[in-house]
Amino acid sequence: MDVRLMDSLVGAVFLMLLLSGLGLAEQDPCWTCRNLVNNFMRGIEKTARQNFGGGNTAWEEEKLAKYEGSETRLLEVIETACDQSDFECNKMLEQNEEYLETWWFKRSKDPSDLSDWLCKDTLKLCCPEGTWGPDCARCPGGTDKPCSGNGKCNGSGTRGGTGICDCYSSYGGPLCMDCAVGYYEEAKNESHLVCSECHRSCSKCLGPEDDQCVLCKKGWLLHDMKCIDIDECGTIDRCKANQFCLNTDGSYECRDCDKSCIGCMGAGSARCKKCNAGYYRDGPKCLDVDECDSEIPKCKGLREECVNTEGSFTCVCEKGYSRFGGSCRADPKDDSEKGLFDDITDDEVVVLQQMFFGVIICALATLAAKGDMVFTAIFIGAVAAMAGYWFSEKSDRVLEGFLKGR
Ligand SMILES: *[C@@H]1O[C@H](CO)[C@@H](O)[C@H](O)[C@H]1NC(C)=O
Ligand SMILES: *[C@@H]1O[C@H](CO)[C@@H](O)[C@H](O)[C@H]1NC(C)=O
Repeated sequence: MDVRLMDSLVGAVFLMLLLSGLGLAEQDPCWTCRNLVNNFMRGIEKTARQNFGGGNTAWEEEKLAKYEGSETRLLEVIETACDQSDFECNKMLEQNEEYLETWWFKRSKDPSDLSDWLCKDTLKLCCPEGTWGPDCARCPGGTDKPCSGNGKCNGSGTRGGTGICDCYSSYGGPLCMDCAVGYYEEAKNESHLVCSECHRSCSKCLGPEDDQCVLCKKGWLLHDMKCIDIDECGTIDRCKANQFCLNTDGSYECRDCDKSCIGCMGAGSARCKKCNAGYYRDGPKCLDVDECDSEIPKCKGLREECVNTEGSFTCVCEKGYSRFGGSCRADPKDDSEKGLFDDITDDEVVVLQQMFFGVIICALATLAAKGDMVFTAIFIGAVAAMAGYWFSEKSDRVLEGFLKGR
């Protein structure tokens, strides 16, 4: 099978798996229901004056009144209530069309909120805002202002969720009434809490400056309300062989030694403990050995030459030779793959140029012959330009010939 065909097949299968995976990720039924209701209400709006020109003849008024609460309109609205590709929505619609019908025909008498009536009270897929879970339990902090208004109650308004407060970034605690780690209380009254960031070295502080710390983050040591960076690299060997330790603010990193080193104290070829194979020491540095620069030729094959590389060398074939089964052989003289214009000489290029201009001038001449003033002007201009080009070209050649003593 063609490799590219194979690739695209594999890609298609992968895409299908991915899409079905996304489809399988279960949609919250409450969300599906609310979405369905939104689309349904939009459909009602859209059909409000549809099919009617806005004229108000008695006949039209009467027809409009009939249509308004009709089965016809209900079916039109239902038709647009779900996106065709939205499987969950279509399933829910199919299973609950009778409820929509009930609501539709009683609507004028009881214009209750369809979302609450259908999703919450009838299908029991949703909960009132500020409550969550199968039994619609109250969110932490009460239903009016769950999570103190500083976070989201997980699952609020649905029959799912965990009922736990997901606090906004600067807040913490089960009710989001505290400041998160790394934040301090900038302002607070009974109803509001404003948390601002500590200096990056502290986890608890009284203000934003570096000398207002009460507790330090990991990797820092408290001294006089300041957090001082701990040098983790100082005493213990923390990194693997052939790595060096780099102290950073609040932490440290292990980085690989330069490839010229075996063991090192820092970055670069001047911090090696020992030089790697293929390198020699020159003062503080480990430098690459030029293996090709030696009395004894390193490459012993016929038509081979030595090329130095970092830490080593390779043997390659001389120009015009390529490796076939271990030895260098002359490249076959092959001109079958030459491009279309590779063989063209300068003179031929000139001929091609003239042919090109000739075609354009012919075209312009034809148009000029039809008596069009504009094209006549362009034609004359083109001839003049052509002549100029021709003479300059010629004069160049004459001059060139003259200089060469011809
Ligand atoms: C609710 O919590 C679960 C589990 O922690 C999480 O996967 C989900 O994204 C949360 N939902 C919302 C709306 O934050
Ligand atoms: C608490 O502070 C907020 C903003 O800082 C303010 O809008 C609100 O009126 C204050 N409430 C009380 C009871 O002082």
